[in-house]
Amino acid sequence: MVKILVIDDEPAILESLNMFLVEKGHEVFTAETGNKGLEAYITEVPQIVIMDIRLPDLNGLDILQIMMEKKDASKIIMITAFQDMETTIVAIKRGAFDYIHKPLDVDEIEKAVDRAVHILEIDQNTPSIKGVASRKTDPWVIIGQSEKMRNVFKKIGLVCKSRVNVLLQGETGTGKELIARVIHMNSTFKDEPFIVFDCSAVVDTLLESELFGHEKGAFTGADTAKKGKIELAANGTLFLDEIAQLPLNIQGKLLGFIQRREYTRVGGAKVHQSSCRIITACNCDLAKKVRLGEFKEDLYFRLRVFMIDVPPLRERLSDIPLLVEHFLSKINAELNTQVTKFQDGVIQILVDHNWQGNVRELENTIVQALVECTGSVLLKEDMDKILATDEALPEMGLASYSLAHVEKEHMLKTLNNLEWNKTRTATALGISLPTLRSKIKKYDIHPN
Ligand SMILES: Nc1ncnc2c1ncn2[C@@H]1O[C@H](COP(=O)(O)OP(=O)(O)OP(=O)(O)O)[C@@H](O)[C@H]1O
Ligand SMILES: [Mg+2]
Repeated sequence: MVKILVIDDEPAILESLNMFLVEKGHEVFTAETGNKGLEAYITEVPQIVIMDIRLPDLNGLDILQIMMEKKDASKIIMITAFQDMETTIVAIKRGAFDYIHKPLDVDEIEKAVDRAVHILEIDQNTPSIKGVASRKTDPWVIIGQSEKMRNVFKKIGLVCKSRVNVLLQGETGTGKELIARVIHMNSTFKDEPFIVFDCSAVVDTLLESELFGHEKGAFTGADTAKKGKIELAANGTLFLDEIAQLPLNIQGKLLGFIQRREYTRVGGAKVHQSSCRIITACNCDLAKKVRLGEFKEDLYFRLRVFMIDVPPLRERLSDIPLLVEHFLSKINAELNTQVTKFQDGVIQILVDHNWQGNVRELENTIVQALVECTGSVLLKEDMDKILATDEALPEMGLASYSLAHVEKEHMLKTLNNLEWNKTRTATALGISLPTLRSKIKKYDIHPN
């Protein structure tokens, strides 16, 4: 049983809601004006409010705002004859728990009240995550306590003392760009620029001028001279993302620059110098690209003077709870949400999930969950729903994959899950060891 306040100027609605809710075992208070409603809200402290928007004296949306400012954690359900988009958006933005249209459907009211009661109960029985509401988050902190991440921290510590080139290798969303920034911020030249360049985001014809700059008139459209990323990085850090995408001719020019620390702008003769540190990132196996003749071997050795393998999330599951708390504080601050609790079991769902997109996907999931959460506690069922829709996406495109593609992907996933133990993988897949070996060869599958 909970205390419910109903505010509506239509006596028939007040009466029928009163009867219905009392019958369901709740304690009900009613008010036929906004002012009386506010008074009852203060004296009775109801857990649920059901309120009309159009009232004779006050606007329900303004009352909603006053109630939300009191931070009593009441669930406020708005009812209205308005069908317009604007009112709905304002109500939800101001923190309404639900929004129900007239003519009232008792089933809809019942569902909303039951859901509110359910959440109130969980809220009451769930402790707040310690310090999450007041914690200040530093966007440039790398979260992790697992052994694999501790090794990454050690490597960052070693490398930030010098200017050697660093190659960051890891799957998508594992934190390579974040690590590059942290290396820069801990270096002696941290006040110099940190310039990011994504080698996959620019068409091949513009890559050279983007990197090395160009002189006026160097090519059609070059109306003015322009500095390239190397010049902009000056004596700081140049972070080259997706380095494997760099075409061979530009690889050659980059190698020349790294060897001599000198370069010329496109269409220019003047020799420029730069001592910037180059950090590169790649989400594939760059050594394999070298073997395939797609990446220059000498450039590869120059770039990987110091290499950091960034582990995927599935190899550091113990970091997930910490990451979740970190994102919770960070996103609450960014979105102005006040989620401070997770229902028992939510963290476990997150630990058990298969994070193909690694930390970025985890972060996006928390954003999505917080946007949809209408109180202070995140429910298990809501998290399940969010993760289920994510998983459904690739399925929809399955019809366009060949059988061989699906077999290869499934084989790779199983091998990774079983840490490339071929005997166990063959057993899990229901095939013989020689068959597994021949398929690995046929599909050219390698450990990440
Ligand atoms: N260990 C971590 N602690 C806190 N935040 C992290 C961590 N790792 C990644 N993130 C966050 O996850 C998001 C993705 O990280 P980032 O962009 O660095 O990944 P990436 O490896 O460069 O991905 P991609 O290969 O797709 O470019 C960022 O918002 C980043 O701040
Ligand atoms: Mg990146």
